[in-house]
Amino acid sequence: MSAAVINSSFVDALALPRIVWLRPNLIGLSFPLMKLLPARYIVRKAIEDGELHPGGLIAETTSGTFGLGLAMVARLAGHPLFLVSDPAIDAPLRRRLQDLGATVHIVEKTGASGGYQGARLKVLEEVLARNPGSFCPRQYTNPHNPGSYAPVAEQLSQAAGAIDCLVGSVGSGGSVCGISSYLRLLFPELMAIGVDTHRSVIFGQSDAGSGRLLRGLGNSLMPRNVDHTTFDLVHWVGAAQAFRATRELHREHAVFAGPTSGAAYLVAEWWAREHPDQLTAVIFPDEGYRYQDTVYDDAWLEAQGARLEALPAQPVEWDRPHDGDAPWSFYRWRRRTFAEVMQKPASPELVPA
Ligand SMILES: Cc1ncc(COP(=O)(O)O)c(C=O)c1O
Repeated sequence: MSAAVINSSFVDALALPRIVWLRPNLIGLSFPLMKLLPARYIVRKAIEDGELHPGGLIAETTSGTFGLGLAMVARLAGHPLFLVSDPAIDAPLRRRLQDLGATVHIVEKTGASGGYQGARLKVLEEVLARNPGSFCPRQYTNPHNPGSYAPVAEQLSQAAGAIDCLVGSVGSGGSVCGISSYLRLLFPELMAIGVDTHRSVIFGQSDAGSGRLLRGLGNSLMPRNVDHTTFDLVHWVGAAQAFRATRELHREHAVFAGPTSGAAYLVAEWWAREHPDQLTAVIFPDEGYRYQDTVYDDAWLEAQGARLEALPAQPVEWDRPHDGDAPWSFYRWRRRTFAEVMQKPASPELVPA
């Protein structure tokens, strides 16, 4: 039943974004749950390629929306699912995953390197080794993650014509790198702007110090699916700024989205303001429901010391990536590799082969 069911399911109905015009030169790609696209495509490809057999176990490490997408796809395709997560996973998401039949394993301690991600990968490798024939989607390294975004580029170009700039937050790298690569087949000049946060290693900061309050983007290990040569500009947005921008996106445009959408909106709104003659598209990866007791709750924001009265009007330009904690900064990455910009290889690399 697998492939046919995935083809005509609730997952299909939700997989593509709604195209939302925020201004005449600013478009939002508003996903109910963006990770459905890579989850569905990766599982479909694994079935087609004979890597995943009927009823075979799927195992993955995730503390966020990829797990939810995978749980929906796995349930419909009749595969058991083992997810390795960490204490940052919120209780409602965990309950939803379990309701969909997933086993959710929480690692309690960070690994020797790579924070919780390192510890999660270790458990994942043990589970895969114990279960011959099991399949791991590996969203951080699997090329079918960026590969899954072709329909979005097609949908966007059909709805809006030539796009000048794409802005999106970067976690695994799949969405911005995937959509940009397809859009550039049509519009090679497309600007790609990546949005990261402090203490994420993706664009050259170190993850030392207290963890990241803004989740869903950034990483403590370097995902192989981040193709650094995609990016013209890179921004680092602080948690408080992202939260405030999320609320403004809701108040001004009635778009009820999560904080990675807010971070991307902050950057895209600035770019569109500075470039009125260009058409900018911005990725909104999920909806606001998961964040009603956090980002949408002023008391929670206050308790985190993350409640802002106003947003900075513009970012500070950096002449090189570094560990500075400016509320909002950017660097002209200019489609170079990590090694070209940083003069050293990316480390620590996210290694699952
Ligand atoms: C809510 C949310 N926003 C943004 C991202 C980043 O997207 P990508 O992994 O495609 O870089 C993720 C990744 O998990 C996410 O869960």
